[in-house]
Parts: sequence; C-alpha cells; structure tokens
Amino acid sequence: MASDERTLKIVLGEDRIPTEWYNLAADLPEPPAPPLHPGTLQPIGPEDLAPLFPMALIAQEVSRERAIPIPDEVRDVYRLWRPTPLYRARRLERHLDTPARIYYKYEGVSPAGSHKPNTAVPQAFYNKAEGITRIATETGAGQWGSALALAGSLFGLQVDVYMVKVSFQQKPYRRALMESYGARCVASPSDETEAGRKILAEHPDSAGSLGIAISEAVEMAAKRDDTHYALGSVLNHVLTHQTVIGREALEQLEQTGDYPDIVVGCTGGGSNFAGIAFPFLGAMLRGGPKVEVIACEPVACPSLTRGRFAYDFGDTGHLTPLVKMHTLGSEFIPPGFHAGGLRYHGMAPMVSHLLDKRLISAVAYNQIECFEAGVDFARVEGILPAPEATHAVKGAIDQALKCKQAGESKVILFNLCGHGHFDMQAYADYFAGLLTDQSYDEADLQSALAHLPPVAA
Ligand SMILES: Cc1ncc(COP(=O)(O)O)c(C=O)c1O
Repeated sequence: MASDERTLKIVLGEDRIPTEWYNLAADLPEPPAPPLHPGTLQPIGPEDLAPLFPMALIAQEVSRERAIPIPDEVRDVYRLWRPTPLYRARRLERHLDTPARIYYKYEGVSPAGSHKPNTAVPQAFYNKAEGITRIATETGAGQWGSALALAGSLFGLQVDVYMVKVSFQQKPYRRALMESYGARCVASPSDETEAGRKILAEHPDSAGSLGIAISEAVEMAAKRDDTHYALGSVLNHVLTHQTVIGREALEQLEQTGDYPDIVVGCTGGGSNFAGIAFPFLGAMLRGGPKVEVIACEPVACPSLTRGRFAYDFGDTGHLTPLVKMHTLGSEFIPPGFHAGGLRYHGMAPMVSHLLDKRLISAVAYNQIECFEAGVDFARVEGILPAPEATHAVKGAIDQALKCKQAGESKVILFNLCGHGHFDMQAYADYFAGLLTDQSYDEADLQSALAHLPPVAA
C-alpha cells in the first residue's frame, strides 16, 4: 500500500515479520571489549554462562553473523502483534508548526504494552527447548516482568519476577498482570535471597533498584538446576532480538519515500534504542545514508551523559560478569522517579561502545519536562506514552523544534516503546504537581564511581 499525504499509519502484513534478527556486531569497525569473569578477570567463555542461559542464546551473545534466523515458533508468537504500525505524526507536526517530518514506531500494541516481548518470547522459547522449567528475572517498571510472564505462559514455563520495591508499590496493576499470566512476583529486595537479605540488613527501607533485583534473580537461577535467568536488556542477544523494530521500520519507510536523518530512542539498558537504531546504524556502517542517532536518558540516572566508560558489575550483589559499559557504579541506587525502566546504573556494552566511538550521541532530560512532552503528545496523537517513552518523545520534539528554528525539513524517526496505561499514578502525580526533578549530586556520583572494580582503571 503506497502512502499519500493523508496516510497516518503504515502497516505491513504478518508475512512481512522479519525472518532474521540483525546483529550489529557484524558491521562494527572495532568489536566491543569482552565480558570478564568476576573472579579471574579473564574473558568469559560459554561454559561460564551456561548455568544462567541456554546455549542458543550464549551463541547469539558472541555471534559475529550479521543475520540470525528467527525460529518459526517465535515468529508465530510475534504474529499476535507484529508487524507493529509505523505512524506519521502529522498532528504533532502541525501542533509544533515544524517543517520536520516525524515518524514513530509504536511498540505499545504488544499484549504486555511495550517492546519487551520481542525478546521475552525468544528467550522463553530457547529455554524451553533446552528443558528448563523455570525462569527467574528482575523488573523495574513491570514491563519486562509482564513480557516474560506472558512468554512463560505461552511456552509453559514458571516465571519468578523480582520487582523493584518502589515500582511494586507504585504499580499494583502491573503485578496483577504478571500474576494473570501465571508468574510469581516478589518485591525486591526480598528475604528470599542472600543478596536481598544483605541489602535489607543494611537498608531496611530500601526502595530497591534494578541492580539489586538482578542479583536476586541471578542468585536464584545459579542455585537451582531447573532454573535459568533472563535479562530484559543490556546483553547483546537482547539488543539483537529487538532489531525487528528497526527492520520493520526500514521497510515501512520505503513505502513513504522518506529515510530518517535522525533516529531517537530512550535508554534504560539500551534495548529499545538498539531495536530502532541498529538496523539504520548498520546500513550507515555498510556505506548507506548517514543518520544521526540520539539516546535520551533521565537526568536522575545519567549513565551515558555522566557515567564512566569502564568495566563494572551488572548487578549490586556482584554476581554477574564484568562488562565494559557507561556506568554510574553498581552501588548507585537512583532516586525513585517514575520512569522505573530507566533506573539502571549501567548501559548496554554495545550502546556504550557506540557512544565511545561517537557513532551516537546522548542527551539527559528531567522527568517533569518529559511528562509535559508525553501529555502534549497524547493530546494530539492520542497515545499516552509510558513514562520511559516520554524521554524519546521529548527528544523527538526537541529535534523537530530545532528544524523549525533552522527552517529544515528533516525526517525524524523515534521509538514509542510502550503505552502508559499502567502508569496512571505517575500521570496523576504529574497533574497534582507532586513530581520533582532530581539531579544526581556530583559528590555522590564520584563516591559510587570510586568503588568500581580494580580492572576499571
Ligand atoms: C516502556 C519501557 N521503555 C524503555 C525501557 C528501558 O529499557 P531498554 O533501554 O532496555 O529499552 C523499559 C524498561 O523496563 C520500559 O518498560
């Protein structure tokens, strides 16, 4: 279907669901630094990861193949919501009075309401194929936990979700959704694990963090033979699974005759950003059109804009391998702001590497300006973004306003990675004037960074 000047959404048939994920590692001029064993500080091998992940995912983690085939069983589940629509934000363009052409890929149409099922489904599939019966995981906002709960129910796996306590309290309906899909949801830090008990002994009122919840889930998986661990972001294979977003967007944009000058995504651990951006970055690295790629993160958890690019642990309890990434320090516990999915101390090694090589740029926004952008967007485009996604909305609006100032009609593509229907308390707090902007004190940052593992130096 060709698009005309009134077309708002570009939709593809189920037969156009990609048959392969795109692996950016194949096109990088230089590979990212390898993960290190936390004990030996030597690069880890597949056998080190085997207690936690199925071999198929470990192979994807280290693969340099450009195309990774998507199993038919996974594509059959993707059919429930993929391909997702690409929207032309005509009303937003008129509202901003910008000559820019703005497109957004909408991942909120998945059953769990975000991009997270794009990787939850293959992770559940490969675990089931390897005979695993239970998966332990963490969740921040509850989006990832809901996605894995959904995937677990579709493939017959028990799912245990350690949910960051502040979100557990703020988002009771996310917990109910996970339980509806048959998962067990536990507020983290909990007394079920050594990692949780240690934090509770030191900080009985701890609001939790993704770093703590990851430690709890990894500990449970390491202890039990029937249990594996699943991570909703950060790792290479997770980022690769998300590239179905950008691959579809490439095909959808072909129908419009436009190609993005600018691609924008929000970044927590980096997966939805990678999903939209990597296929375009890969095309550029292979000699295709130049594209400016912008990562948008919260001022209250600024790993890309203020973190150090160094080896660090992925979790607070120091159970994970060391990865080289932009980090605020694994002991950093971000304030309880509302974009729970962006409250992670580190960033995907692949995204961190891209920033280090200046192939992408990063910008940090305060939560109030993001909610303003989200509400503005909802009033003209109709979709209420997840608090995390408002960071990308804000980033895209800023770029469109720059175009207005410069009189340039650039093409802007952003990822609207989830809807905010389970985040209404956050919007209620915003309307009641209860939100505050929390910046991260330089002294606190330096003290968290002072505890980076010695290899960081
Ligand atoms: C809607 C939404 N967007 C973004 C994120 C951040 O994760 P990532 O950077 O991996 O996309 C989350 C994480 O939970 C999320 O729920």
